[in-house]
Amino acid sequence: MWCSVAVRRLQRLSVSHLNLSPTQILQKKMSTLQRVYVTRQIPPDGLKILRESGQVQFELWDSDDVPIPRTELVQKVKGVDGLLCVLTEKIDAELLDAAGPNLKILSTMSVGFDHLNLEELKKRGIRVGYTPDVLTDAVAELTVALLLATSRKLIEATHEAKTGGWGTWRTLWLCGYELANSTVGIFGLGRIGVAIAERLAPFKVKRFIYTDVVPRPELASQINAEFVSTDELAKQSDFLAVCCALTPETKEICNKDLFSKMKNTSIFINTSRGGVVNQEDLYEALSTGQIAAAGLDVTVPEPLPTSHPLFTLKNCVILPHIASASYSTRNAMSSLAANNLLLGLRGEPMIKELHL
Ligand code: DGY
Repeated sequence: MWCSVAVRRLQRLSVSHLNLSPTQILQKKMSTLQRVYVTRQIPPDGLKILRESGQVQFELWDSDDVPIPRTELVQKVKGVDGLLCVLTEKIDAELLDAAGPNLKILSTMSVGFDHLNLEELKKRGIRVGYTPDVLTDAVAELTVALLLATSRKLIEATHEAKTGGWGTWRTLWLCGYELANSTVGIFGLGRIGVAIAERLAPFKVKRFIYTDVVPRPELASQINAEFVSTDELAKQSDFLAVCCALTPETKEICNKDLFSKMKNTSIFINTSRGGVVNQEDLYEALSTGQIAAAGLDVTVPEPLPTSHPLFTLKNCVILPHIASASYSTRNAMSSLAANNLLLGLRGEPMIKELHL
C-alpha cells in the first residue's frame, strides 16, 4: 500500500493546460517522491505525519502484533530511500546490503539502539534518528510502579487474595521493603535515571548513589546523587535500578559478581535491556536468597518463554517490555520517528539524531 496525500491532491488538480493525462501526472509525481518502508503499524500520529507530508510514498508492514518476517523485510527494503523501524528489527549488514545504496536515512521508534549495527550504518553514510526524551516520563513512571510492585509483593498479594490464600490478618505475612530511609542506586545515570530519582525522592529516600563510566555531575546535582564504584553501588543499594544502554561493555554486567555483593534485603530493577543481565546468575541470586527480589521489564529473549525458570519465582516480577507503553508516549515516539525520517530525507538536521 503506497500512500501519499500529495498524490491525492494531485488527482484533484486541473490538468487542462498540460499535455499529460492525470495518470501520467500521477506517475510523474510518484516517481519524484522518496520511497520509505515502515516495518510496523506505528501509532497514528506518526503515520499521519508521513501521509500528509507530501514528501514520501511509503509502504507499511500493516500489523501491530506480528513482526515482519525477516525474508519479507529483506525484500521490502530493496531500493528504499528511508526506513522507519522498531526495536524488533535487526538492522545489520545483510539488511543494509539488501536495501542498497539509495538508503540514506534510518529512523528507529525507540530510544535504545542495540538492534542497529552502528558501524555498518556509519560505513554506508546512513544517518540515524531515534526517540529519546519523549519516553522519559513514561519509563520512569513504570520503573517506580515495578519497583513498588516488587518490593511490596503486589503481584503475589493479589494472587493470594484471589486464590484463597488470604486467611486471618498476620503480623509478617507478605511483608516487603520500604523506600523510606533507603539508599537507591542507579546503574547508568542518564535522563531516565534522573527522572526515576525525582519520582522516588518524595518517598523519603535517604540517599541516591549512582555509577557510570565517568561521573555525571550535572545530572547528579539535579537529584543530589553521589558517584560510587560499581562495587559500592552493589554493596550499598537497598534498591538498585539499572538504567544503562546495552553495549558490548554493559552486556551481562549484572552478573554473579554484582549480585554476590548486594545485600540479601536488596531489590534489583531492570527497565533498560535484558542483555545487561546474566539471567542464570539472577535466577541463582533470587532462588538462594542472595537478593530479596527482582522486577524486570526486559529479558532475553523477548518474549521470555513461559517455561523460563524466572517465572517460577515468587520474588521475580516480570513485565512484557511496557515501560514506554502509554498512549501519549507511544504517539510521541511515532511522531518523532516520522519527523526524524522526513527531516533526514530532506538533508536537514533531525530532531534527535545519533551522531555516528
Ligand atoms: C526503547 O524505546 O528503546 C524502549 O525500550 C521501548 O520503548
